[in-house]
Amino acid sequence: MRITNSRLLHRCLMAAALIAPLGLLGALVHAQEGKKAPAKTMTAKQKYKNILVLKNLPADKLGPVMHDYNTALGVNCAFCHVINADHSGFEKDDKPMKLKAREMITLVNDLNSKYKTIDKKATCAMCHHGHAEPEGMMQAEAPK
Ligand code: HEC
Ligand code: HEC
Repeated sequence: MRITNSRLLHRCLMAAALIAPLGLLGALVHAQEGKKAPAKTMTAKQKYKNILVLKNLPADKLGPVMHDYNTALGVNCAFCHVINADHSGFEKDDKPMKLKAREMITLVNDLNSKYKTIDKKATCAMCHHGHAEPEGMMQAEAPK
């Protein structure tokens, strides 16, 4: 009787040991789901240190937007950003190109919000076409 009792106890413990991690896993999945929800609605201004123009941009869109700037201007991140060895420093405003870029972002936002005729299609690429300084079409072909 004592033996069967302890066996029963042993089995119970085994079962608990098997089930407990499953419970933990469930709790973990829930915790991660809980974390994900607010991250999605977080704005760039809330997540990053020095956002003055892209305030309402969803935080997870900032990376793709920055890559778009690289492509539109044919540059890399360091064109506008101070980048330390540990990959920090993006919030610094030390490079004049970053300040110029802020004005350009405002210009593009103005075009899209004020001028219906452009149908919200204004982008950096529209003028830059892969060059930091937009090419002047008129100068390109000198008059004869
Ligand atoms: C043409 C200039 C330009 C290029 C190129 C550029 N950025 Fe930016 N970046 C900006 C500007 C301007 C801001 C600030 C926007 C604002 O104030 O709303 C910014 C902000 C950021 C921030 C937020 C920093 C903080 O904490 O405030 C990060 C991170 C960032 N950029 C990463 C990158 C990465 C990574 C690349 C390359 C893939 C890149 N940027 C390329 C102009 C640029
Ligand atoms: C309507 C056309 C137009 C659009 C759209 C535009 N730019 Fe520009 N951008 C220019 C012109 C023109 C210059 C040259 C201005 C000057 O010489 O001071 C320039 C210059 C710049 C410069 C300085 C380049 C250098 O080598 O001196 C940066 C940086 C820049 N633009 C970033 C951007 C970014 C980022 C966007 C998109 C958010 C953008 N621009 C959208 C017309 C535009």
